[in-house]
Parts: sequence; structure tokens; C-alpha cells
Amino acid sequence: MKFVMLLYVTLLCLTYFILGVTDGLSLPQVPSHTCVIGAGYSGLAAARYLKEYGINFTVFEAAKDVGGQWRFDPRVGTDEYGVPLATSQYKYLRTNTPRQTMEFNGFPFPEDTPSYPSGSCFSKYVRKFAKDFGLLDDIQLLSYVTSVKRVGSHWDLIYNYSPDNSNYTVHCDNVIIANGQYVQPVVPKFAGLDTFRGTVLHSHDYRDPCHYKGRKVLLLGAGASGLDLSTQLVEVADKLVHSHHLEYNQPNYPENYIKKPDIKGFVANGVVFVDGSFEEVDTVIFATGYNFGQPFLDESSGLTTTGKYVLPLHRNIVNIMHPTMFVIGVVNKVITRLLDAQGQYAASVIAGKFKLPTQDQMLKIFFEHLFTLPTIKNSKTINVNLVVEMDKYFADLSEEAGVTRVPPVMTDIRDFNAINRLEDLLNYRDYDYEVIDDFSYKRWYNPRNETCNIEE
Ligand SMILES: Cc1cc2nc3c(=O)[nH]c(=O)nc-3n(C[C@H](O)[C@H](O)[C@H](O)COP(=O)(O)OP(=O)(O)OC[C@H]3O[C@@H](n4cnc5c(N)ncnc54)[C@H](O)[C@@H]3O)c2cc1C
Ligand SMILES: *[C@@H]1O[C@H](CO)[C@@H](O)[C@H](O)[C@H]1NC(C)=O
Ligand SMILES: *[C@@H]1O[C@H](CO)[C@@H](O)[C@H](O)[C@H]1NC(C)=O
Ligand SMILES: *[C@@H]1O[C@H](CO)[C@@H](O)[C@H](O)[C@H]1NC(C)=O
Repeated sequence: MKFVMLLYVTLLCLTYFILGVTDGLSLPQVPSHTCVIGAGYSGLAAARYLKEYGINFTVFEAAKDVGGQWRFDPRVGTDEYGVPLATSQYKYLRTNTPRQTMEFNGFPFPEDTPSYPSGSCFSKYVRKFAKDFGLLDDIQLLSYVTSVKRVGSHWDLIYNYSPDNSNYTVHCDNVIIANGQYVQPVVPKFAGLDTFRGTVLHSHDYRDPCHYKGRKVLLLGAGASGLDLSTQLVEVADKLVHSHHLEYNQPNYPENYIKKPDIKGFVANGVVFVDGSFEEVDTVIFATGYNFGQPFLDESSGLTTTGKYVLPLHRNIVNIMHPTMFVIGVVNKVITRLLDAQGQYAASVIAGKFKLPTQDQMLKIFFEHLFTLPTIKNSKTINVNLVVEMDKYFADLSEEAGVTRVPPVMTDIRDFNAINRLEDLLNYRDYDYEVIDDFSYKRWYNPRNETCNIEE
């Protein structure tokens, strides 16, 4: 018995000694290569830290330019090579959250930019970030990742290079998945939809309100996209029939706006609602949200994915089964800046800046976290990737990994904006915000035309 105790203590000391020695190193001892999937906000944020920490990496991006959702493309469906277009950006889009909650760490917009910049201004900002941080040389455009497989102690990533339509295999020691969370449009099924003779689309393929001039449009949903599209469509459509059950301060729309309850079914020339009423329409727009999707992920990754969740992840980032894989952005109800913090966390693990808990410990933390989630308690959905207390999440990332602390004021602005948007849908963007310190901000009415002084 004594001997066993002694052995145990010796082992503990040895472990401590070894850890103590390796702790001081901030770079992996063997040359390693990190593959990042996607050059949207998340992939670029991660790349910036990888570069800063001296890690070799390549970003694989399917599109012809960086920016992800912020890249406007007038086309819908697929690009000239048949690769699905990831962007849902449309004309006249302005951010629905103050830019202060969306800025990359230490990379503010020019001060004179309104707090709710246009999509094109945000797109400039993201491209400028990639350029200023010297990331462009490490980004491989037109490279659509089709498979990521665990092979031995590394990952084999296969991508299709659009210009020569050839498949290439890359050996990656680490993989950061940053392919966006708005990838697979959710299209609900309705009785009779196949008999409807008009145009049917998802908001993912909405580009320009002028396409709906004089149309009789049915818009389904009042999430961020549904509400935003309602404000654009009501201006141009002959009539806008809006089916939703959001309780909010509906603007004083003109008479061409008709609010309706849930849909019962479709007929050739229109739609019937659950209250029995009928509206003639020629266009249906489903603003019904998106599912996650990592179609390239092989079973060997050890992750379980559905359109609604990815598990098991430590801190909603690290693949617990193989902690050399990281997923960014599969969390809900958060600010964009959080994606930057997740990127820094992933890069910090890769650079050996801190040591992850053991697999057992991570699983324990994962399960403890799981059973605190309201979504699990009331078992409505299995949304395991929900971040309920965002500020605590930021505190945890900083404490565990030294990630730059996103100050509480960002969470406060997010919370205020989420409510204010529903109270004042047509004017909430006419306010400017200024962050005063980590805990306070001011906000004032300042309607104006946009200035976007970003030189590319
Ligand atoms: C219409 C719309 C408006 C939004 N407005 C706001 C807003 O106002 N405020 C806010 O905070 N958030 C907003 N968001 C959320 C927005 O998604 C985030 O701000 C942020 O852009 C997410 O960045 P990302 O890099 O995670 O994903 P994305 O921007 O989607 O980038 C993912 C990138 O990965 C690439 N990719 C995907 N699959 C592959 C593959 N297999 N191989 C290679 N590359 C691949 C894509 O081409 C894309 O470039 C909005 C989202 C949408 C859809
Ligand atoms: C980066 O790659 C180069 C060339 O392959 C290698 O010499 C170097 O050690 C690598 N650095 C790291 C930190 O992995
Ligand atoms: C590339 O891989 C895809 C499968 O992802 C396959 O369908 C296609 O035929 C391959 N192309 C070539 C040129 O080998
Ligand atoms: C915005 O610009 C338009 C012309 O482009 C001008 O008519 C309008 O007065 C400007 N509005 C403000 C608030 O500056």
C-alpha cells in the first residue's frame, strides 16, 4: 500500500515536473501546419492570431475573395465553377448590431463611421483587416474543401481548386473550421407548395428589393432577416403579406402591409392561413433561418453534427475527441466579436500558450455545462451550442487561455440593441454609440448619410 502511494506521488511529481518544463515553451517543438477552412470574419480572425504566434497555416476559401457573409455577390445558387455561394448579403443591408460589437480586437473602424455601417462598408473593413495583418498570402482562394479525415495523428484535408477542377490533399496537424453558421437555408414544408405557380425563394437568395417591385409577396418569418426584408419590401411591393408570430412594436406601415398568422397551405395563386383567410400572392420568400453544416467532416473526426449542433466541444470550440480540431462560430445569440475571441483561443491552444485540460476533464466540463442549459432542461431543442451568459463566456476564455477580455460593455450593448431593434425597427440604426469604458457607453440620435473612410 505504502509503495503504491509512493509511486503515485512520484508520478504526480514527475508529471508536474514535465509540465513545469514544457509550460515555458510557447511554440510547438515540431514544425506544424494548420489548415483553416473559410476566410470570412472567423477564419480571418483566427489567421491573424496564428500569424502573430508564429504558426504556419493556410486558409482555404471557396469564394474568389475573402469576407464570407460580408462579400456581396449579385448571383445566387452557385458561382461560375458550380461551387455554392455562401453569402446572403443583399443591397442596402446595414448591420443590425452596432459595429463596436463586431470589430476585430484592436482594429476599430474609422471614428466617423456610423455605428450601423452598410454591408459594403463592413466588407471593405474585413478586406482591409486581411490586408493590414498580412494574411492575403496565406489565403488560398477558389479552394473548396470537400473532406477532412483523421489519418494517424494528423488530418487529411481535400479541396477542389475551382480553376482546374482538380482535387488536392493537404496534410494538416491542426484544423480550424470557420465555414460560417449561415450555410444551409431551412425551407419548411407546406401542403400544396408544389402546386403554387409563383416564385419561391429563401432569404439566402434575396439580393435586391427592386426585383419585387409591383409584386404580391408573401414573407414568412420575423427573425433578423424577416424583419429587415419587411422594411425593404413594403416600400416596393404591390402588397406584402407577412406571416409571423413575433410580438414587437410593428411600425406604422402603409396599407399594402398585411400581417398574417401561420400558414396552412398553398394553392396555385396564393396562400391560406390557419385562421382560414386567403391572400393572392405571386412570390414567396422564406426568411426561415439556417442550419449549421460541415458536410466535409468525416466520421473519423469524432464529432457528432446535425444542422442544429456540433458536439462534444470544449468551450464550444475544441473537438474534445481530437483536440487538434477547432470549430468557430457554431454558437447562437452572440456578438460577432465573440468569433474573434474563439479564434484567439484556438490559436493559443495550437501555439501552446496554455494547456488544455485532459480529455476526461474536458468531457466533465462539457457535461456539467450541458445540464445547465435551459434548452436541455426544458428539452425543447437540443441546442447544446448555446452561449447563455455571454459575458461569463468571455471571462472564462480569458481566464483559461489568456484571450483578450471582451469587456462587459459589449454584452450590455448587445442586450440593449436586441430589444431596441424590436421597439424602433425603422429608426434604431439612426443612433450612434460610443464606448466610454469597459462598463459604460453612450448613445445618441444622429441620422446621417454614411461615411466609410476605409482605404483598401
Ligand atoms: C444576411 C446576414 C446579415 C448579418 N448581419 C449581421 C449583423 O448585422 N451583425 C452581426 O453581428 N452579425 C451579422 N450576421 C452574422 C454574420 O454571419 C457574422 O457577422 C460573421 O460574418 C460570420 O463570419 P464567419 O466567418 O463565421 O462566417 P461567413 O461569413 O459565412 O464565412 C464563412 C466562409 O467560409 C467559406 N466556406 C464555406 N464552406 C467552405 C468550404 N467547404 N471550403 C472552403 N471555404 C468554405 C465561405 O465561402 C465563407 O467565405 C449576419 C449574417 C447574415 C447571413
Ligand atoms: C514552419 O514551416 C517551416 C517550413 O516547413 C519550418 O521550417 C518551421 O519550423 C515551421 N514552423 C513552425 C512553428 O511550425
Ligand atoms: C474530386 O472529388 C469529388 C468528390 O468530392 C469527385 O466527385 C470528383 O470527381 C473529383 N474530381 C476529380 C477531377 O478527381
Ligand atoms: C444624404 O444625401 C442626399 C443626397 O445624396 C441628400 O439629399 C440628403 O440631404 C443627405 N442627408 C443627410 C442627412 O445628410
